[in-house]
Amino acid sequence: MKIAWSVRLACDADVPGLEKLIPLSVRALQAPYYSTAQMDGALGFVFGVDRQLIRDGTYFVVEHECELIGCGGWSKRKTLFGSDHETGRDDTELNPTCAAARIRAFFIHPNWARRGLGHAILDACEKAILDAGFRSAELVATLAGEPFYAAFNYSAIECYDIPLANGLGLPVVRMIKNFVPNQFPQSTAGRR
Ligand SMILES: CC(C)(COP(=O)(O)OP(=O)(O)OC[C@H]1O[C@@H](n2cnc3c(N)ncnc32)[C@H](O)[C@@H]1OP(=O)(O)O)[C@@H](O)C(=O)NCCC(=O)NCCS
Repeated sequence: MKIAWSVRLACDADVPGLEKLIPLSVRALQAPYYSTAQMDGALGFVFGVDRQLIRDGTYFVVEHECELIGCGGWSKRKTLFGSDHETGRDDTELNPTCAAARIRAFFIHPNWARRGLGHAILDACEKAILDAGFRSAELVATLAGEPFYAAFNYSAIECYDIPLANGLGLPVVRMIKNFVPNQFPQSTAGRR
């Protein structure tokens, strides 16, 4: 039997639910890829709520029986990853004709992994990105997220470590997808 859930835009009232969901998702689904110390160092900074996305109306949640079981979004701004508390944010708006939109902050509740929630949120993001006039999308994937994005034709273009406040590094993969055939992806190498 299919259990009902739905994707909707996030609002400020969702923040407490998101703050509960994100660590649950990270600690369970990233455990095969990162150490506890790496997850400790990334939570709250690299992984956390970005209220700018909620204000922009570009962040989605999946709800089931009044509980948040998934989230993820996109951005028309330069920042590639991170919560409100991440240093080095750049909220400058991107020009859709020559820059890639950002895919941002996907977190699924561990009890709901591999049930299509991430796919449904990504579909909603890509539709909104195209409606906003962008021709490509870029993201920084965790090692847990890389196979998911690869399944939807995002290509890895760079591997690097995000430096964490506790001195460790978090290996990540920059990925890009071009929505317009035969056009070189609009990469933004070196920018956040
Ligand atoms: C990555 C994540 C968002 C995927 O969400 P999800 O709802 O489980 O993904 P879906 O069920 O929509 O998966 C769709 C397809 O993606 C691929 N996929 C998803 N997770 C995968 C994994 N762990 N390994 C291999 N392929 C995977 C599969 O092709 C899958 O289709 P299938 O289940 O029919 O084989 C989720 O695992 C997550 O929240 N991880 C922890 C937080 C995180 O690291 N987020 C990424 C931030 S960049």
